[in-house]
Amino acid sequence: MKNFEFHNPTKIVFGADSVAKLAKLVPVDARVLILYGGASAEKTGTLAEVRAALAGAGRHVQEFGGIEPNPSYETLMRAIEQVRRDKLDFLLAVGGGSVIDGTKFVAAAALYDGEAWEIAEQGGANVHQALPFAAVLTLPATGSEMNSGGVVTKKATQAKLSFRNPLLYPRFSILDPAKTFTLPAKQVANGLVDAFVHTTEQYLTYPVNARVQDRFAEGLLQTLVEIAPQAVASPDDYETRANLMWTATLALNGLIGAGVPQDWATHMIGHELTALYDIDHARTLALVLPALLDVQREQKRGKLLQYGQRVWDISSGTDDERIDAAIAQTRAFFEGLGIPTRLSAYELGQDAVEAVLKQLEAHGMTALGEHRDIDLARSRRILEAAL
Ligand code: NZQ
Ligand code: ZN
Repeated sequence: MKNFEFHNPTKIVFGADSVAKLAKLVPVDARVLILYGGASAEKTGTLAEVRAALAGAGRHVQEFGGIEPNPSYETLMRAIEQVRRDKLDFLLAVGGGSVIDGTKFVAAAALYDGEAWEIAEQGGANVHQALPFAAVLTLPATGSEMNSGGVVTKKATQAKLSFRNPLLYPRFSILDPAKTFTLPAKQVANGLVDAFVHTTEQYLTYPVNARVQDRFAEGLLQTLVEIAPQAVASPDDYETRANLMWTATLALNGLIGAGVPQDWATHMIGHELTALYDIDHARTLALVLPALLDVQREQKRGKLLQYGQRVWDISSGTDDERIDAAIAQTRAFFEGLGIPTRLSAYELGQDAVEAVLKQLEAHGMTALGEHRDIDLARSRRILEAAL
């Protein structure tokens, strides 16, 4: 096992009717900005519940709506101006990963001297202070509710960059599974795939004898596979949604990634596909992962065999046949959720491969993966295998 430090300060408040607990969780003397996305938070009534929980204690509360999926720097700059102008000092995100990530960016940028985009350019290393913030999660997928990372997009240059800093953990996150009942089936499927790939990014690398991390990761993957049909088909099945919500959080809160090598090449290539072609985040991962596992099969051999055996019960055939079967199962899982695994499904071909490679180069993404051996030539092979 590798050396590691693990500290996750986010308090999780989980369960039905937990939004009302905001009344106690948000300091009464706070000057609060509620941040949310498009129409969903208003339409579903979650925003009304949040307003009601915060009202009555003399708190100053403002709102900022309109944070789009794959939150843009351009939109977030307006929130930053509002925070600075009205001296707001506590941010509350109500939404999915995009709103929470956007809120993290605002929390850091509001106190940053200089051009806020530098935070994204430097991956968050230049963040030295941040406003306190918290989240009410409405979409289980990203894990942003219990981690210190975020992803923002500068529309002007089609750059989608991640940032991370220990100051960017939410103070607390409210996870009420009932708040996910209103999600369109497509977003539930996206969430299942995102959580699945967060797990594989930290598990499908090479063995370091990290036994409990492996077993945790395999447990998360198996749970996702097990609950997937019900999670999509029965929107108001509380127990299934509760399992989905907690699994997605655990997939990216640092626990399974402690002491093990991490990959993240699927995410980095996927981010370029979202920035260029506006494909949902999780859908880009389904395009890249099966192709990447195939191209990296030698480097990942040990873990691919373990994954096949323990997650998909593949125990016969030669090693290569087992690996083929494990990759085929992964692909079938995504496709079964209605999520394509081929670029052709989006009518993308060789031109897209060239465009993504150009962006990877521009963003310095030229040594990806757990061995830093995914250079542009290897990324080309991966993208071509996904055609
Ligand atoms: O905008 P509204 O109207 O609110 O609708 C949203 C949005 O259109 C809707 N939605 C959310 N909750 C709902 C709901 N609709 C009905 N009922 C509800 N309860 O869902 C749509 C998608 O929301 P979004 O927040 O964009 O989705 P997701 O949570 O998948 O977040 C994706 C973003 O997170 C980043 C991605 O790159 C992407 O920008 N990621 C963040 C990570 C992190 N912070 O650790 C890691 C991930 O790998 C990922 O990169
Ligand atoms: Zn992701």
